[in-house]
Amino acid sequence: MLEVIARAPYFSFISVLHFRESLGLRGEEHIYLMKEHFYQALNETEHLEEMELREGNKYWVDRFFAKHLVLVYYWIMVAYYLIDPMDAYDINMKIEKHAYETYIKYLAYHPEDKKIAEIAKDELKHAHELHDAMAMIV
Ligand SMILES: [Fe+2]
Ligand SMILES: [Fe+2]
Repeated sequence: MLEVIARAPYFSFISVLHFRESLGLRGEEHIYLMKEHFYQALNETEHLEEMELREGNKYWVDRFFAKHLVLVYYWIMVAYYLIDPMDAYDINMKIEKHAYETYIKYLAYHPEDKKIAEIAKDELKHAHELHDAMAMIV
């Protein structure tokens, strides 16, 4: 469920950047951020597929909440990033750190799962990228 939601903010950021681009509001960092958020969205999709392989989507109730929450979260992040990109990055940086900690806890019980160790690293990388993005748009 986490990984379904995790992709949403990156789609929201890309949507808003496209919208701003259409209005001619391009900054120097525009292309860089679009590429980065696109890559992050793809990477989160890979995480989602890995979790599905581990039966993360086994229960109907999890799929139900994930599919409805993601719609709400997507639109909240579109509005948030449009109005206050700094805070939108900040909250998602904290969520990425939380995801990292969650995977580290999982690894304590499944140390043999090397793919989860890679995913944990990705989450931390995303948190750092969002931190750098915040510095970029100051
Ligand atoms: Fe992820
Ligand atoms: Fe993530």
